[in-house]
Amino acid sequence: MTYTPPTPGSKIIIVGGGAFGLSTAYALSLKKYNVWVFDRNIIPSADASSTDINKCVRMDYGEDLLSMQLTMEALPHWHQWNKERNEMGLSPVFHQTGSLLLCKGNKLSDYERSSMKHVREAGYGHTIQEFQTPESIIKQFPQFKDAVNNGYRTAYLNTAAGLSSVVAIVVDGKERGWCDSSETIKHLYKKCMDHGVQFVTGSDRGAFEKFIFKNDQQEVQGIQTRDQIKHLADHVILAAGPWTASLLDFGNRLQATGQAVIQFTPPKEFVEKFKNAPVYGGDISRTGFYGFPINAEGKMKIASHSVGYVYYDSNRSDHICVPRTQVSHEKDTIPLKGLNNFRDFLNEFMPETNDWDITYSRVCWYSDTPDGKFLIAPYPNYKNLIIASGDSGHAMKFTPNIGFKIAQIVEGVESDYSRAWAWRDYKDDAMSSSDGTRNITSKPLTLGVGEARMASLDELKARK
Ligand SMILES: Cc1cc2nc3c(=O)[nH]c(=O)nc-3n(C[C@H](O)[C@H](O)[C@H](O)COP(=O)(O)OP(=O)(O)OC[C@H]3O[C@@H](n4cnc5c(N)ncnc54)[C@H](O)[C@@H]3O)c2cc1C
Ligand SMILES: *[C@@H]1O[C@H](CO)[C@@H](O)[C@H](O)[C@H]1NC(C)=O
Ligand SMILES: *[C@@H]1O[C@H](CO)[C@@H](O)[C@H](O)[C@H]1NC(C)=O
Repeated sequence: MTYTPPTPGSKIIIVGGGAFGLSTAYALSLKKYNVWVFDRNIIPSADASSTDINKCVRMDYGEDLLSMQLTMEALPHWHQWNKERNEMGLSPVFHQTGSLLLCKGNKLSDYERSSMKHVREAGYGHTIQEFQTPESIIKQFPQFKDAVNNGYRTAYLNTAAGLSSVVAIVVDGKERGWCDSSETIKHLYKKCMDHGVQFVTGSDRGAFEKFIFKNDQQEVQGIQTRDQIKHLADHVILAAGPWTASLLDFGNRLQATGQAVIQFTPPKEFVEKFKNAPVYGGDISRTGFYGFPINAEGKMKIASHSVGYVYYDSNRSDHICVPRTQVSHEKDTIPLKGLNNFRDFLNEFMPETNDWDITYSRVCWYSDTPDGKFLIAPYPNYKNLIIASGDSGHAMKFTPNIGFKIAQIVEGVESDYSRAWAWRDYKDDAMSSSDGTRNITSKPLTLGVGEARMASLDELKARK
């Protein structure tokens, strides 16, 4: 079906008020469309993938040059948002901590090497600091002494333009860092409201249930929410994050997969040591593990970016994976297998954590495409419907600018982005990541079953 873009003044409904939905709403609101956002939760939605204490903002993207470029475009927006927050007397949404990618052995892994190469070729070589010896890593980042001594002997740091001093980097921050993502969503939510975007939220009135069609069943005319109210629109954008795949037929193009996340609340003596640490990767393309400095509330997050877990709703007949979160399953923790993987990794990488209880854990959901590239395109079988999903676990960093790219796609403007994120077919279900950061060598386990049963609170306690 050929796509017809909206005309000026059109009413556009966006389903989902996460990173993709809000960013799109803001971009479209600048163009004077009549923009409405529906979300099944109040925003920030408690179990959205955008909701978290921090996310990594990195330009290091292996062979995925488009994502590297998009981060380079996002960075000035992050700085602008910090200024806006500062004027409102609020904390920054972007913290330039730098990012330290450590690798096992004496050679960087392929992902780190190709990232460095492409960052340099793109003119950002000044942000890179390579470490020539294991001792030099320890000297600059004593936090990682045990990791280095246990085999993580190579690393590079991505820092900011203009910062030449190592000390200044740690004190003043750098080009790469983490974003306090719930605050990010709140900031964007406010920007949208200031620009006249309308919001309908809540588990009945805000929850998408189905599309409304014109008689021929191919032309979308709006949505019906769970309270049975019909909302007409000229165009609908489906941006429901990991829930997207359960709302419409995508074949094998989208799948919700869960990733384990943990937090520690380290004891006082460790806080000093770790609060000025950079974001770090522990040979991420092999192990999947990466983490963050201790935040202002004393929490330290460590996450896994790997094959993940799937979950099937037994009430559905279509065998589609759906997110299972603490909104519906309050007592959920993380799968036992995931917990053991964290503990094994940390035993080498940060052995002090063996003595610490895990104080929070969660499964956070990606909307995965088989190739790790986003799916942002008109839905081919219906008129007036655009999909904005397939984040594949790496889109938070684009919150300030992805909406401008999505708005172009809504308006039918072609670009490298529209071509990369186009509706496409996959021969089989083999999964990969766009940048090689995810080691996907096995099939995802089913959450709640066998080794992937939820860990008990007792099991989350210190490994004695
Ligand atoms: C553990 C984890 C770590 C991550 N780390 C990083 C990182 O370090 N760096 C990075 O760049 N990215 C990271 N990401 C990815 C990033 O969080 C996502 O790419 C991004 O949040 C995707 O945004 P979204 O808007 O597509 O989805 P979401 O943020 O999940 O938003 C979807 C919204 O749709 C709503 N919704 C769902 N169903 C309905 C319905 N029926 N009706 C109405 N509304 C509905 C939800 O309530 C939600 O608000 C991570 C993700 C996870 C899970
Ligand atoms: C990927 O992970 C598996 C274990 O899950 C490991 O055996 C393998 O070595 C990893 N691949 C690479 C390239 O490190
Ligand atoms: C199936 O539906 C019932 C009733 O709504 C609900 O309690 C149950 O959790 C659902 N099952 C799954 C696997 O979500």
